[in-house]
Amino acid sequence: MPVPKAELHLHIEGTLEPELAFALAARNGVELPYADTGTLREAYRFQDLKSFLDLYYALMTVLRTERDFADLADAYLARAAAQGVRHAEIFFDPQAHLARGVGMGTVVEGLWRALGRSEERHGVSTRLIMCFLRDESAESAMATLDAATPYLHRITGVGLDSAEVGHPPRKFREVYEAAAALGLRRVAHAGEEGPPEYITEALDVLGVERVDHGLRCVEEPALVERLVRERVPLTLCPLSNVRLRTVDTLAGHPLPAMLDAGLMCTVNSDDPAYFGGYAGDTFDAVRETLGLAPERLRELARNSFLASFLEDDEERRARYLAEVEAYDFG
Ligand code: HPA
Ligand code: ZN
Repeated sequence: MPVPKAELHLHIEGTLEPELAFALAARNGVELPYADTGTLREAYRFQDLKSFLDLYYALMTVLRTERDFADLADAYLARAAAQGVRHAEIFFDPQAHLARGVGMGTVVEGLWRALGRSEERHGVSTRLIMCFLRDESAESAMATLDAATPYLHRITGVGLDSAEVGHPPRKFREVYEAAAALGLRRVAHAGEEGPPEYITEALDVLGVERVDHGLRCVEEPALVERLVRERVPLTLCPLSNVRLRTVDTLAGHPLPAMLDAGLMCTVNSDDPAYFGGYAGDTFDAVRETLGLAPERLRELARNSFLASFLEDDEERRARYLAEVEAYDFG
C-alpha cells in the first residue's frame, strides 16, 4: 500500500499526458506540431524552467471545453488515488486559458465536474488554488481575480507561478491584498530559480502561508532559521528540480539536509506528466535515492497534511494524520 499523503504542489495543466493531449487535439480539431506521442515525449528534455514552460503552454492549447478540463482532472485524481494521495490542493493557470478565449467558467466548472465527485469516485478530497502568471502584468492578475468573482465558492486560495527571475513577489502586492480581503489563502512559488530574497518577499509582502519550492533558502542561513522558527511549509518538488536542472542530480538534492535543519518540508510532483512521476513515484524516488530513514518519511507524509488547507475540516485532517501514524514505513 502506498504512503498516505497530501499533494500540495500540483499544476493540473502539468498532468496532461501525451496520450490525452493527442486525444483532446483530435476531439477539438487542434493541430499539434508533433507526429505522435513518442515524438512529443522526446521533446521533454528541458534546460531550465523557461524551456519547460514553452512546451507546457503550447500543449495546453488542446484544452478548450468544460469536458476537457473535467477529463484532465479526473485522470489526475485517478492516478493520484492509486499512488496514495488522500488530499490534493490543485493549481490552475486561468490566464493561460483566458488568453486563448477559454472563459474562467469553462475552466473552473470543468475542473469542478471532476473535483466535486472526487471523494466518492477516488477517495481524494481536493482544494483549488488559482495561480497568477508572474511574467504577466499585475493588472492582468487583478483582472483575473475579478473574473474569478463568480467562482470563489470553488477556490480556496491564490498562488503565483511561471517564469520567476525578474518577476519578484512585490509586483503582486495589491492583488494579494485583494485576495486576502476576499478570504482566500495565499501561497507563491519562490526560490525555485529566483533568489532567496524572493522567499522573504513572498512572506513579508504577499503574506503567503506556504512557499512553493523555496529550495534556494538553503543559500541563506538566516532565512532557513526564520523558516524553521515560523514553521513555514515548503512544497518541494525533487523530480521537477532534476528535470529543470535546479539541482544536478536527485542524489545531490538538499532535502535530507533541509529536514535535518528542521525545515517543514513536503514532497510533491509539480508537473508529473512532464517530470517523470506522480506523488507516489516521487516519494519512492526520494526514499530510494536519498536513503531517508523511516521516521523522516513519516515526517514528510505528516507534514503534507499539517501544511494542507484543511482548517475547515479538522476531523478529516485528524483522520489522515492517524493513517500516517499507523502506516508501516519499514
Ligand atoms: N514553476 C513555475 N511555474 C510553473 C511550474 C513550475 O515548476 N509548473 C507550472 N508552472
Ligand atoms: Zn510549480
